[in-house]
Amino acid sequence: MKALVYHGPGSKAWQDVPDPTILRPTDAIVRIDTTTICGTDLHILKGDVPAVTDGRILGHEGVGTITEVGPGVQSMAVGDRVIISCVSACGTCAFCRRGLYAHCLADEGAPGLGWILGHLIDGTQAEYVRVPFADSSLHKLPDGVDDATAVMLSDILPTGFEIGVRYGKVSPGDVVAVIGAGPVGLASIATAALGGPSRVIAVDLDANRLEQARHFGATDTVRSSESDWREQLLGMTDGLGVDVAIEAVGIPATFTMCTQIVRPGGHVANVGVHGSPVELALQDLWIHDITITTGLVSTSTTPMLLRLVAQHKLPAGAFATHSFDLDEIEEAYDVFSRAAETKALKVVLTR
Ligand SMILES: NC(=O)c1ccc[n+]([C@@H]2O[C@H](COP(=O)([O-])OP(=O)(O)OC[C@H]3O[C@@H](n4cnc5c(N)ncnc54)[C@H](O)[C@@H]3O)[C@@H](O)[C@H]2O)c1
Ligand SMILES: [Zn+2]
Ligand SMILES: [Zn+2]
Repeated sequence: MKALVYHGPGSKAWQDVPDPTILRPTDAIVRIDTTTICGTDLHILKGDVPAVTDGRILGHEGVGTITEVGPGVQSMAVGDRVIISCVSACGTCAFCRRGLYAHCLADEGAPGLGWILGHLIDGTQAEYVRVPFADSSLHKLPDGVDDATAVMLSDILPTGFEIGVRYGKVSPGDVVAVIGAGPVGLASIATAALGGPSRVIAVDLDANRLEQARHFGATDTVRSSESDWREQLLGMTDGLGVDVAIEAVGIPATFTMCTQIVRPGGHVANVGVHGSPVELALQDLWIHDITITTGLVSTSTTPMLLRLVAQHKLPAGAFATHSFDLDEIEEAYDVFSRAAETKALKVVLTR
């Protein structure tokens, strides 16, 4: 088969590789019908994720059709159309039993880490992929949900909801600010509606991203390059700050911005992946009863989000801005990596 293979920082190739095979009784082989590229794949390509080594097939998002199942797979069958979760879960370890699939203790990849596809084992940017723990890592797709919509449930929608909205405890009437209106921030904006906020404020440097944020449910926008961004934002609250500030960039400056706009008693939900230490002004924050949360997506809410998507209650299809054939993946990477110019949110690759 063909697959996108990582060959060290800055190097990748769409090349021939052996077809995946069933290695364990709980595996399934899935033919990839649709996949997409994540900002994390760009980090890997830069060399920021050293656990990814030469020869690894990239990709942790996908929708496909099961072509083979191991003898231990019970609830999935050949021919089923499925969403592949970016996190693989054994379903039975101590963390899986608490719904924390992100920390699955099974010995695929590294025990304690559920994100293994396109990281510690071969991923979904390929014609076929081996999916471990098929019963708990795949979700059957109902008719009526197209692939380009469903693939947003592999990673970005559960991430934006679980780590931003749910950990941030978005509640009726809340004023919510989401800093960073990339695909993940937009997923938080879209799913914040489930908590019944009164306002959802998108904050970004990029005017185009702010424009797009309105299509996902942002009621207001603030451009953080403007010197009075904080005053603008506080003017959209009762003056005391936002109830929930969601960080969806992953740099120290934007985490600090969240702590500067949250009201006493409010929540800061950090979604961004940070690569360098971040200063925490605990000497100022301690007296404000602030709750700060962090997390790696578990995808435990994917079935719930899928029901909403199937009933057209979430604008999942709107993330797909560009379409390519699977074998045009190198061109798709180019378009996705120049998002500010190309206005790409998610590029969708189809067989
Ligand atoms: N916690 C998890 O489980 C998890 C899962 C997936 C992704 N992530 C992380 O979520 C973050 C967002 O992902 P994405 O794919 O949407 O990223 P992205 O790079 O596409 O989007 C980031 C956005 O932030 C904006 N931005 C940059 N600097 C800014 C600033 N100073 N002020 C305001 N906005 C600024 C950019 O213009 C861009 O629109 C990343 O750090 C990613 O690694 C976390
Ligand atoms: Zn991802
Ligand atoms: Zn587990």
